[in-house]
Amino acid sequence: MLRLAIQKSGRLSEDSLKLIRECGISFITSSLKLKTESTNFPLEILYLRDDDIPGYVADGVADIGIVGENVLVEEGMQRLAVEQLGFSKCRLSLAVPKGDSYEHISDLQGKNIATSYPKLLQTYLDEKGVDANIHTISGSVEIAPSIGLADAICDIVSSGSTLISNGLREVERVFSSQAVLIANEGLDAEKRRVLDKLLFRIHAVQRAQK
Ligand code: PRP
Ligand code: ZN
Ligand code: MG
Repeated sequence: MLRLAIQKSGRLSEDSLKLIRECGISFITSSLKLKTESTNFPLEILYLRDDDIPGYVADGVADIGIVGENVLVEEGMQRLAVEQLGFSKCRLSLAVPKGDSYEHISDLQGKNIATSYPKLLQTYLDEKGVDANIHTISGSVEIAPSIGLADAICDIVSSGSTLISNGLREVERVFSSQAVLIANEGLDAEKRRVLDKLLFRIHAVQRAQK
């Protein structure tokens, strides 16, 4: 039995479940259960917070997982990546209040930036030679400027509607992301065999969509 960790609720949840279903893997979902077993494939699904998934897979609590590359790279866990899945595409972007006279990245010199992705942001600012103060907060990053907590934010943008509803304007793209399949590095032969079977089906689904 292979244990797959997916996001409990969020941008990746639905797409992740859809992929598994398209692979012909049946299971019963209940919004209250955090664990479910497939009825026709040796797979158990765990519903977790996305930020916890790389750590659980690295530790072997889960054998494989589906996460955003944004989370994977921020946590320095790229070594677990098996395959890019091509869905849940999004970007990590810098945004400022829409009335701001922002023109160039150097305008952020010395400014306060709120984000949940301090490492990805620091790497980007270093590349650009900009020295700013990064304030790490775990959620609701988009409200930081309006409550006086920061001059700018760096967060995930998908449709862009969260930015708009918070009066923010996207000004720089820091990182492009999509869903990625990750696996524990020490899977035994039996689990490896189930993973190969799953990958075979994923490839078939991907080919059918082209
Ligand atoms: C991101 C971001 C916004 C939302 C933006 O959250 O923090 O909440 O997506 O999407 P939009 O541009 O379509 O409005 P994410 O799904 O990464 O979840 P998390 O921050 O709760 O982990
Ligand atoms: Zn998250
Ligand atoms: Mg969010």
